[in-house]
Order: sequence, then structure tokens, then C-alpha cells
Amino acid sequence: MDQQPRKFLKEIRKRNFINMDYGADDATRDEKTVATFFNLIQRKLTELNIDIKEVKILEIGSGNNIFFDYAKKQGVNIIGVDARPRGKSPAVQALVERLPFADKSFDIVYSSQVFDSRGYNQDQTLMMREISRCLRQGGVYVALLENIDEPGLVEGFELIVPISRESWIKFYRKS
Ligand SMILES: C[S@@+](CC[C@H](N)C(=O)[O-])C[C@H]1O[C@@H](n2cnc3c(N)ncnc32)[C@H](O)[C@@H]1O
Repeated sequence: MDQQPRKFLKEIRKRNFINMDYGADDATRDEKTVATFFNLIQRKLTELNIDIKEVKILEIGSGNNIFFDYAKKQGVNIIGVDARPRGKSPAVQALVERLPFADKSFDIVYSSQVFDSRGYNQDQTLMMREISRCLRQGGVYVALLENIDEPGLVEGFELIVPISRESWIKFYRKS
């Protein structure tokens, strides 16, 4: 691993996590599972009159690009960003707290297992503000959460009714 990602990694990883295998960051979902998530998200966005194939998506914390690569294969216009990008496809290296994108430049922001204060030093309010800043009005933030933190609401964001009350896929709309 080169120097730059390690510098970033130390900046966000908590000390007790730094001692863990770096592989702990990587999901081991197979393509079938990713396809199921993708289809669920696509269906919900269709209900919201958003065609996933016609919009610009930012994936934050894209990691090893499992979702990103699948979405690309489906013809989705998606950009990935991570403190430690490590997939085959190029992702932008940056912190979610300082997204290097213009205001309102995306229709959808997506993340999977990123809000996690056990593992990372994160300013989660700032992360939500940045997500909101980069979304156009009416844009949607889709968060996959699995036993980790739920993004807190910031001004201008509302939690839209999730797929089911119990679902850990949450949809936030920018007003
Ligand atoms: C548990 S991994 C999940 C990776 C991928 N989204 C997935 O589902 O396989 C969390 C990822 O979020 C990134 N991450 C966490 N906090 C971040 C932050 N504040 N800024 C940028 N990346 C962050 C980590 O580097 C890591 O790649």
C-alpha cells in the first residue's frame, strides 16, 4: 500500500481499528446480494420518480467498489469517493467531511456501511451537511446501514418512509 492512503487511513481509523486487519473494511457480498440491494433501491427511486439510469450518483465510502462496479455494469453514471480507495475502478480519494464536488452536483448520494463511529473518527454532522450540499434540491441520499450508526438529520434533510419500517436501507430527501 502506498503512503498516501495510509495517511488518510490513520486520519479516520480509530486506534483499536488500526490494529485490525485492513480487510475488516471490506464487505464480502456476492454479486447476487448486491443485485438484490440494487433492485430494491431502483424500485424505491422509481416510486420517487427518479430513474437510476438517468441520474448522477455519488457513492461515498465506496471501499473496494462492490456496489460501484455493479452499478457501472448496469449503465449507471456513478462516481466513488473514499478515504482509502481500493477497488479496480478509479475512485476519488477524499474525506466525506470535505467532499471535493460543487454544490448540487449529484441527484443521488449512496453509501453502504459508512457511518460507523466504532471504527472511524468521523464528524457525522459534517458528513451529512456535505452530502446535503452536494445533492440537488429533491435529491436523495440512500444509506445502507447494518448494525452501525444511523446518519443524524441535518437541516434541509428529511427521512422518507423507508422500504419497510424495519428496513436498514434509509432514504433521505433534500428539501
Ligand atoms: C466498512 S467499509 C464499507 C465499504 C463499502 N461501502 C462496502 O459496503 O463494501 C467503510 C468505508 O468507508 C470509508 N470511510 C469511512 N469514513 C469515511 C470518511 N469520513 N470519509 C471517507 N471515507 C470514509 C472507509 O475508508 C471504508 O472504505
